[in-house]
Amino acid sequence: MQYDVIVIGSGPGGYVAAIRCAQLGFKTAIVEKYPVMGGTCLNVGCIPSKALLDSSEHFYNAVHHFEEHGITTGKVKADLSKMVERKGGVVKKMNDGINFLMKKNKVDVKYGFGSFLDKNTVKVKKEDGSEEQIQGKNIIIATGSKPTILPFMNYDKTRIITSTEALSLKELPKHLIVIGAGVIGAELGSVYARLGSKVTFVEFADSMIPTMDKALGKELQKSIKKLGAEFHFSTKVTLIENLGKEVKVTAENKAGEKVEITGDYCLVSIGRRPYTDNLNLEAVGVATEKGRVLVDEHTLQTNVPNIYAIGDVVRGAMLAHKAEEEGVLVAEVLAGQKPHINYNLIPGVVYTWPEVAAVGKTEDELKAAGIAYKSGQFPFKALGRATASGDVDGFVKVLADKSSDEILGVHIIGARAADMISEAVIAMEFRASAEDIARSSHAHPTYTEAIKEACLAATENRSIHM
Ligand code: FAD
Ligand code: NAI
Repeated sequence: MQYDVIVIGSGPGGYVAAIRCAQLGFKTAIVEKYPVMGGTCLNVGCIPSKALLDSSEHFYNAVHHFEEHGITTGKVKADLSKMVERKGGVVKKMNDGINFLMKKNKVDVKYGFGSFLDKNTVKVKKEDGSEEQIQGKNIIIATGSKPTILPFMNYDKTRIITSTEALSLKELPKHLIVIGAGVIGAELGSVYARLGSKVTFVEFADSMIPTMDKALGKELQKSIKKLGAEFHFSTKVTLIENLGKEVKVTAENKAGEKVEITGDYCLVSIGRRPYTDNLNLEAVGVATEKGRVLVDEHTLQTNVPNIYAIGDVVRGAMLAHKAEEEGVLVAEVLAGQKPHINYNLIPGVVYTWPEVAAVGKTEDELKAAGIAYKSGQFPFKALGRATASGDVDGFVKVLADKSSDEILGVHIIGARAADMISEAVIAMEFRASAEDIARSSHAHPTYTEAIKEACLAATENRSIHM
């Protein structure tokens, strides 16, 4: 065999798997259909969305918050094309970084569309039409996901768009209609609301980010409403039409009433689907269900013993850090090690302002599982650090087992929640009790004091500052 391992797809799952395989001494190749490395996350996902979130946040703060800090500016203007250009530069820097890592680890990069010829052979069809066949003892499928679009949504990439186009718009929408108030809707809706677009959400469920703890969605909605956004919850979209300069969305609410909304752009963000198109999985008999590659829970091996799958293309949260953990796991399984992923402790983060971050079980999940729990909550407005910065919206909620005090879930909405959640992940990985955190010194003044205070509240209601 030419290679010990061939990885198909260079997203955070694929490129991390390739690096770990190389570190473990495997001769490794990675196949990527686009001429750039990094997958959805780097090119049209995590990184570009955060670049635009940061730019739009600077603009919003300059307009709305600088004055209260005693900073006077002239008229502040948002230049979307400059923001999009900067975002491109950020992505390019990170593309270069992955190229460097591939060279450093001696991973062979093959640009072209990969498909199976047999269980050890991958055909790479290059952009110029030429083909190469490479052989590997083991193959890792890391082909990621694509946005879900329903036929009646009439996706046209111009006015009816997905996140991919929303990251590179040429003009600021006057009125952006966002279908789905999940993670993408909340983040990209925030970007345009901060820049001055009118934003209207149409959501099937009865709250924003409905899969997270209910209290987070409610609090987030209050903050997004302050940006001027409007919401239609429990509303099902039935048709989206491009009328030239306008987009019309037709929907039906819970009462059975027709809802019609007209805007100039419509962002469809109703979830993503695993992507295995034209991979020719049938040729090797790799089992799938609704496009998702079926894998063994512990080893991520498919039903074909030398083929593994990781990331968005398999079950579980569609998150970059989950894909990365799985990439490392498969490499270590191939090296004969016994790695393990605790899926309960993969954190979920929404990069709005305030940020939302959670790990472990929600209250609804604990109730459904019949687990007796206690809850402690602490608001950001009672924190010295938050008062100093002016970021007083939000709270930390800690859920702990009623009898053992083990922390079962931590749910945060507030400034820097995305970074704060790591404290909860580590604590839970070591099966800490709320008392353990309550008795650990937290630097003052920091936002993380809210976690300590929520733990104090969860253990005998003894929060000091509330
Ligand atoms: P992908 O990143 O999708 O990579 C798959 C790669 O495989 C692609 O490069 C694709 O071109 C390639 N490929 C597919 N088929 C073939 C083939 N046959 N031959 C060769 N190459 C192929 N997650 C977070 O954790 N944090 C965030 O902040 C975050 N923000 C996001 C924002 C947006 C707008 C979006 C859309 C997603 C975001 N995500 C975020 C999700 C994250 O991007 C995905 O979970 C992650 O990229 C999955 O990694 P992956 O390696 O499984 O697949
Ligand atoms: P999502 O699953 O987060 O949200 C989709 C929303 O659309 C849900 O609230 C759902 O109820 C609603 N919906 C579904 N069908 C609908 C319909 N017909 N009409 C109206 N509403 C409908 O999916 P989203 O936002 O598209 O993101 C896709 C994936 O990308 C997520 O699973 C997430 O894991 C990942 N992602 C992660 C980010 C992060 O970690 N910060 C950022 C962006 C995306």
